[in-house]
Amino acid sequence: MVPEPRSSAAAQVLVASNRGPVSYSVGEDGELSAKRGGGGLVSGLSAIGDEADALWVCAALGEGDREAVRRGVAEPGVRMLDVDAGAGEGVHAAAYNGIANSVLWFVHHMLYQTPLEPVFGPEFRAQWAAYEQYNRAFAEALAAEAAPGAAVLVQDYHLTLVPGMLRELRDDLRIGHFSHTPWAPADYFRMLPDDVAEQVLRGMLGADRLGFLTGRWADNFTECCVRLLGGTSGTRIGVHGLGADADFLRERSRRDDVEERLRALREQIGEGRKTIVRVDRTELSKNIVRGLHAYRQLLVDRPEWRERVVHVAFAYPSRQDLAVYRDYTAEVSRVAAAINSEFGTEGWTPVVLHVEDDFARSLAAYRLADVALVNPIRDGMNLVAKEVPVVSDEGCALVLSREAGAYEELAEDAIAVNPYDISATAVALHSALGMAPEERAERTKRLAAAATALPPTQWFLDQLHALTGGPS
Ligand code: G6P
Repeated sequence: MVPEPRSSAAAQVLVASNRGPVSYSVGEDGELSAKRGGGGLVSGLSAIGDEADALWVCAALGEGDREAVRRGVAEPGVRMLDVDAGAGEGVHAAAYNGIANSVLWFVHHMLYQTPLEPVFGPEFRAQWAAYEQYNRAFAEALAAEAAPGAAVLVQDYHLTLVPGMLRELRDDLRIGHFSHTPWAPADYFRMLPDDVAEQVLRGMLGADRLGFLTGRWADNFTECCVRLLGGTSGTRIGVHGLGADADFLRERSRRDDVEERLRALREQIGEGRKTIVRVDRTELSKNIVRGLHAYRQLLVDRPEWRERVVHVAFAYPSRQDLAVYRDYTAEVSRVAAAINSEFGTEGWTPVVLHVEDDFARSLAAYRLADVALVNPIRDGMNLVAKEVPVVSDEGCALVLSREAGAYEELAEDAIAVNPYDISATAVALHSALGMAPEERAERTKRLAAAATALPPTQWFLDQLHALTGGPS
């Protein structure tokens, strides 16, 4: 059944994403409270707030969100979908954990490890059916909410089938899709079952325009289409390298709560020591464990750094429903503890690991870092690499994986590393620690300029205007 567009509440601009800008929790008194989320997607898409008649459609993720949907509670301009209420229990979990975060995330970040992975059998097929249902729920909600001729901007690998499904329901809409991840090279992408690979590509090509974070990911997508389908069938493809939000970061990083954490961190690190900082979701693609091994290698190869450097590692738990993420989280703690017991002394803790998510403390670490270590195996962009130079107090040397999207823009002033090469990463850390203060400050200035070239609001508006033919 084709849903009727709602004539009264029809939106002109719609955004669709799995994780929305707000999440709810139920307090002990039974009251619901809303919390605005952080992250690149949220800051980029918050520009939608300036557009009239805008609506953000997202999934209800936890129990609080589902309760908000049941009670009909909503933030203005946000509609949450409880997919399970309409499509059946467990549909969201199978689509999100099973397909999006286990299969598509692993393909695009090239994380599979033979001989055990991947396995595409009956369980995968059941999860794929759930992924289709979940995408259909989004397509139907968007079709029902969009005004005639509205612009719809669909986000990420969770929703690859939505553009094609929505096109079938509402041919009048202008549909865009943006990928916040890398896109796998064709030889790797073809690991997916043929029919699924085709469905993903055809689903995306249902859009008028597709956006990627770098030319490299866009080229990979095009190659997949040429090899598997014979072409991109007229869909336009654009590159929009999301930048850091300088105004927000500079103001936020000077507030009292950040100053307080700065003092606490300085105390923990100890007088006169250099710091190597990393801040990540605990995510296999972020390569945290190899980063720790590289730091250990530095302490082995260059004993002069012992007692004189501290590795401040913030690794915030992520996607803990999945065993592979839980195991990785445990491995990060284990390796950090092993380094501390191997090298630590009474007055020196070589690795300071924090796992409770605290944005103010992350900003404090950005401010004091002498070196930032950003060494992902693959990363769509990596905003940490772009945020550190903006916030840094006295300049910070950036050790950056050449496999991060941000590398395309920051290559000139970063120290590049092959993320698999622990020895080379240890050498890079040594050069970064030894960089002269003037050079470091100069490089940081140029890095900050490159990192803020396309602020989140402009990033969003560029895509919207490219879709609607508005001002560029
Ligand atoms: C990546 C994805 C986003 C996602 C974020 C956090 O950046 O591109 O779509 O929201 O990771 O992951 P989570 O699974 O917690 O939403």
